[in-house]
Amino acid sequence: MAVNKRERKRLSVAVTRGLPLPVIELLKERHDVWVNPEDRTLTPDELQRAARDADALIVTAFNRLDADAIAGLPATLRIIATYSVGIEHIDLDAARRRGIAVLSTPDVLSDAVAEMAILLMLGAARRVHEGTGLLYGRCWTGWTPTQLIGTEVTGRRIGILGMGRIGRTTARRARGFDMSVHYHNRRRLQPALEEGARYHDTVEELLAASDVLVLAAPSTTETRGVLNSARLALMPAGAIVVNIARGDLVDDEALIAALRSGHIAAAGLDVFNNEPRLHEAYLDLANVFLQPHQGSSTLSARLKMGRILLDGIDAVLAGKPAPSRLV
Ligand code: DGY
Repeated sequence: MAVNKRERKRLSVAVTRGLPLPVIELLKERHDVWVNPEDRTLTPDELQRAARDADALIVTAFNRLDADAIAGLPATLRIIATYSVGIEHIDLDAARRRGIAVLSTPDVLSDAVAEMAILLMLGAARRVHEGTGLLYGRCWTGWTPTQLIGTEVTGRRIGILGMGRIGRTTARRARGFDMSVHYHNRRRLQPALEEGARYHDTVEELLAASDVLVLAAPSTTETRGVLNSARLALMPAGAIVVNIARGDLVDDEALIAALRSGHIAAAGLDVFNNEPRLHEAYLDLANVFLQPHQGSSTLSARLKMGRILLDGIDAVLAGKPAPSRLV
C-alpha cells in the first residue's frame, strides 16, 4: 500500500540488529531509521543509548528487556517492536506501566517454523546427521542392507506441547504423514481448531502418548524445564524429541542421558539453552540432528515479520488495533 508521507508523522526508529534489506528499505520509506552497523546483539547499555533518540525500538529475542531495562528507557520511547514471535525477553507488565506499546510477529512465521519441525523430525528419525557425516567424511563405502536404519514416522503418534499457531500448523503438516495428532495446551482448543487432534489434560499423559514429541510452547514460568528426566522416562522407548520453541523448555542433562541410553532414539533441535553456546554433548551425539535456530529463516517469513511490525507501528500511531500488538 502506498504511503502518503504528508499525512503521517515520520518516527525515529532504532533498529538494534540488521534486518533483511527490503525490510530496512520499507522502514526508511516511512520513517527516519538508525540501524546497528555491526552484525551483533547490542549490549544492555548500548540498547539504552540506541533508545535515547528513538520513538520506536526494533529488537530481537536476544535483547533482554526486563523491568529494570524498561524502567531505564527514555520517556520519549513509544514502541518496542520485537522481530520475533517469542516474547519471553520482554516484561510486558513493565511496558504497560510505562505506556510503551509492544509489538511482535505472530502467525507470519508459522509455516516456516512448522516446516522446520518436520525437517527436524525427519532428520532425527532418518539419521540425517550420520548419513551426511558418511558422505562429507568421505567414508561411505556403498549401500548395505543394514546401513543407518532409522525410524519411520508414517502412521505414528505426534505429540505437540503448545498448540498455538505454530503447533497447529505443525499438526496439519504431520497429518500428511498419516500421523495421529495428540496435544497438551494451557487450554483445550475449540473442536474447529483441534481438527481431530486428541487433547491430553496433563503433560505427562501427552508424553506417554507421543512417539514423536514436538515442543512448540512459549518459554514461560510454567514451561521452563518441562522436559525433565521424570517426564522423559514416561515417553515410549525409542521416541523422538523435537524442539522448535526455546531451549529452556528442556533439561539438557536429562535429554542427553536419555539420548545416550537410547530411551530417546533421537532428537532434532533448533533451539538451545544459552545460545549460541549449546551444551557440548549435543555436538558429540550421533543421534542428534541440529540446526542453529533457523526456524523462521525463510525469505518469505523474514519479510512478513518486518511488514507486520511496520504495519503495527503505523497502527499504533494512528490509534488503531494491530494483530502484532501485545500491549
Ligand atoms: C522467534 O521469532 O521467536 C524466533 O525464535 C527468533 O527469535
